[in-house]
Amino acid sequence: MKPVVIIFLLVFISLSLQAQDGHELWLRNKSTGHVTVTCSGNSPTLAIAIKELQQGWQGKDNAKVVLTIKDDKAIKYDGFKLSPGEIQANTDLGILYGVYELLRRQQTGRPVEEIICNPSYEVRILNHWDDPDSSTMRGFASRSIFWRKGKNALAVTDADKTLWQEYARANASIGINGAVLNIVNASPLVLSEAYLERVKAIAAILRPYGVKTYLAVNFAFPSIIGGLKTSDPLDPGVIKWWSARVKEIYSKIPDFGGFIVKANSEGMQGPHDYGRTHAQGANLLADALKPYGGIIMWRAFVYSPTDKDRAKQAYLEFMPLDGQFRDNVIIQVKNGPIDFQPREPFSPLFGAMKKTSVMPEFEIMKEYLGGTVHLVFLAPMWEECLKSETYQEGPGSTVGRCTDGSIFPQKHTGIAGVANVGVDTNWCGHPFDQANWYTFGRLAWDNTLTSEKIADEWIKLTFSQVPAGQAASTLYTTDWTEKFLVPVKKMMLESREAAVNYMMPLGFHHIFSMPNTHYGPGPWWAPEGMRKDWTPPYYHQADINGVGFDRTRSGTDGVSQYHEPLASQLNDLMTCPEILLLWFHHVSWDYTMKSGRTLWDEICYHYAAGVQQVRDFQKIWDQVELYVDKNRFTIVQTRMREQYRNAVIWKDACLQYFQQFSRRPIPYDIERPVYNLDYLMKNSDRYYGL
Ligand code: GCU
Repeated sequence: MKPVVIIFLLVFISLSLQAQDGHELWLRNKSTGHVTVTCSGNSPTLAIAIKELQQGWQGKDNAKVVLTIKDDKAIKYDGFKLSPGEIQANTDLGILYGVYELLRRQQTGRPVEEIICNPSYEVRILNHWDDPDSSTMRGFASRSIFWRKGKNALAVTDADKTLWQEYARANASIGINGAVLNIVNASPLVLSEAYLERVKAIAAILRPYGVKTYLAVNFAFPSIIGGLKTSDPLDPGVIKWWSARVKEIYSKIPDFGGFIVKANSEGMQGPHDYGRTHAQGANLLADALKPYGGIIMWRAFVYSPTDKDRAKQAYLEFMPLDGQFRDNVIIQVKNGPIDFQPREPFSPLFGAMKKTSVMPEFEIMKEYLGGTVHLVFLAPMWEECLKSETYQEGPGSTVGRCTDGSIFPQKHTGIAGVANVGVDTNWCGHPFDQANWYTFGRLAWDNTLTSEKIADEWIKLTFSQVPAGQAASTLYTTDWTEKFLVPVKKMMLESREAAVNYMMPLGFHHIFSMPNTHYGPGPWWAPEGMRKDWTPPYYHQADINGVGFDRTRSGTDGVSQYHEPLASQLNDLMTCPEILLLWFHHVSWDYTMKSGRTLWDEICYHYAAGVQQVRDFQKIWDQVELYVDKNRFTIVQTRMREQYRNAVIWKDACLQYFQQFSRRPIPYDIERPVYNLDYLMKNSDRYYGL
């Protein structure tokens, strides 16, 4: 391209960079021509589909599109068949999803070819960790979009309805079809008459977009709010109580989805309190929901304080129960065996429970990955999990295939994401955190998508600058692609590994400072009397001989929860992937790594590399200033500066702390620490964040 043309283009683009508050998410494009839509049916969902096509059409002017609903065995659930002039589906919702796919293709410059798109999972659900008092767990993007505090807490305003409708539309556009409206540490308020009325109002708005409403309940509700002496799942009074509650809910919300339950976990009561099993507990609720078609998502996030290895606990509690759950129970399993760490191996329950429906749970909200301050794109983390080989039914038994019904005849399939949505204008706090919401939906729909493809789509939809009447795809010039899309995508794709490097490389895990809401480093944190498996030294096990948690056959034998040949591969120091080394092995400081360096030096270089990566992200971002509106540019730039400072803190804290055990110098070609360890230790719970 000639220099004058480039200058003209840049001026043109920057003039059109209107301030963006991020509220429109990835749904910013408007139609560039007229389309005539004919449709064989008539419903609120189809009305939305038609309106979306007309308002977002960027294909040929005066084109015709036919929406056809007819039974086709090749189409699964709410899947659809797309062709240039037609969208066909078995359901109205399938048509709506087809419309969003068609528009996405137009907006990202992909051809509309003949293709059948079926979702990988039947239930694609967001879990909101929102309390009826309006607080959200860790409050990353401010308060809840569903609940309000104060005198008018339960009034349903027009502003509420608009926000819920925008939320539902965003979800539908990426295939999400369910929402749990309250946190798993469930408050009894949610089942009260007044709150159920609010749930009903929310459900009415979400319904036409195909987003079903679910609630989290506490297993002990019968004794907490029901006036019963027990919550024993086999007690006839308890059974009756739950049936009555469920009946009441369905009388208000006929298409209610069901419950999620966190039981016998982190102080929550559960069937164990009555000498019963998780299966007996889950089945109680499953039976109550069964007549209405509801499901139970029963979480496997459990760990007893007595076991020697917390990473083994969920498997120990749940494997013996395989086959004992009703067919409307799905066991919801976090991606890794501990708790949403920057990197974990996949949970050994995936593929191991063969007679039970099992669904993965991801955390979209970056509880352990720098909250809304750090730019971390989570697609590579989830892709890594979904594509992990379990070997449960021979090669090709990936976590994705073990959970999506390809291998086991699960009655229900599902995938859950802990939402990162709040009332912040841009929904998620950090502009790039929208990409994680987007990714969850896209992967839930198609668990074989690559991170690269998702990032590509999201950047195009979120950052293209579209003057009215101009198709977004025509603006993906070589200049925009080379100077914006390529570097920003590279930054996103590297960002998770960067976070692993500066926080917890080589298999380190859970070395956060706990009072610091899982944000900054705290490998030293172990107050007197604290439950051991809540303290970082339990996880890193550093001593003068080495570091790492021994889960080999001579250690806690955690490796044996995995299928062969993986179990042996993980067990052997030589074949265990180095990215998980300290998860499975206690390794001496002078052990020779594949790079030829000692373990100690390798740890140091990883921390240094992580810091450098964030430095490089800053350079990338500063160079794209011309292509981003000022508002979003500044938010990202400011947060990235803080991310860099945090990365330095992580490196300085961890290297100086572990150096006390390794007794070796930090290699001299690495930047020297700038913070004193004692300063970081004293300030660990109040130093970080913007
Ligand atoms: C993490 C998180 C808790 C949460 C829990 C859960 O431990 O820190 O706040 O309640 O996960 O998944 O239930």
